[in-house]
Amino acid sequence: MPFPEQRLRRLRSTSSLRRLIAETTLEVNDLVAPLFVREGISEPHEISSLPGVVQHSRESLVREVNELRDLGIPGIVLFGIPERKDSTGSEAWNPEGIVQEAIRDCKKAVGEDIVVIADLCVDEYTDHGHCGIVNDDEIIDNDATLGLYKKIAQSQAKAGADIIAPSGMMDGQVAAIREALDEINFQQTPILAYSAKYASGLYGPFRDAVNVSLENSDRKSYQQDWRNAREALAEIRADLSEGADMIMVKPAVTYLDIIAKAREITDVPIAAYHVSGEYAMIKAASQQGWIDGDQVALEQLTAIKRAGANFILTYHAKETAKIL
Ligand code: PBG
Repeated sequence: MPFPEQRLRRLRSTSSLRRLIAETTLEVNDLVAPLFVREGISEPHEISSLPGVVQHSRESLVREVNELRDLGIPGIVLFGIPERKDSTGSEAWNPEGIVQEAIRDCKKAVGEDIVVIADLCVDEYTDHGHCGIVNDDEIIDNDATLGLYKKIAQSQAKAGADIIAPSGMMDGQVAAIREALDEINFQQTPILAYSAKYASGLYGPFRDAVNVSLENSDRKSYQQDWRNAREALAEIRADLSEGADMIMVKPAVTYLDIIAKAREITDVPIAAYHVSGEYAMIKAASQQGWIDGDQVALEQLTAIKRAGANFILTYHAKETAKIL
């Protein structure tokens, strides 16, 4: 009997045939590596909840970036860990702060071969671990925080960042940062907005990586509720109207529906952040011998592209580049 599905089967029979008809491809060009650089250390420090990822010293960061360039990885996103944290996160806009120095180091090492994305937020720099100024009622002061974000954007752009990526989920942050950049003649510096960022349980290992503990509080008053999808589209539209050049969905695999819906409403490049918890789950199960970690990583990263993302921020970037 000639069942129509026999045709589908026939086209799966060899690996070259499968390659020929593959609808989605994952390439090294799709990968952005998140990197941590910590002030005041001379050797890299391991992060126990993120096996294979480290807090870099300035020197080891440069070595890593050179290796990523040799592998053909087109982008990195940088997170700084300062020695001194305070209530406003003032090290975040210090022209000689750790991330500003690291941006200069990276640009000097790899020039235009790698796009340096500066994550713009204060949570790594504040002693309370929130993404903005916390007022007396324990509420985030959105508008006061925008003033800090403007200073950070200017310092990161002056240090040489190729893209500014605000991740704090403050209202109006994209417009404020665009204005701050234009003011100092950085009209050419694009903004990658973390537009749809959920208050996810999957950021735990990241907080270990940047030495942040939120103790009894959370970020549910400014990050998104995971029950909502239409709300994400409203956030994306708002960021686009404020001048975002690219948008991001974060985390990735739990939010593939959001990536697919975002793809339908905009033509700007869409980034997806395969976050620390997504990486850690794959590593943990793989270390137990319960799954093939490399295969699952490839499967998840390809699924993120299939959903409609143009590029992926992932801790798997280096190992995946080697496999590809
Ligand atoms: C905020 C920021 C976070 C991540 C990237 N930028 C943490 C948070 O919102 O709690 C998390 C990324 C990850 O888990 O890999 N500056």
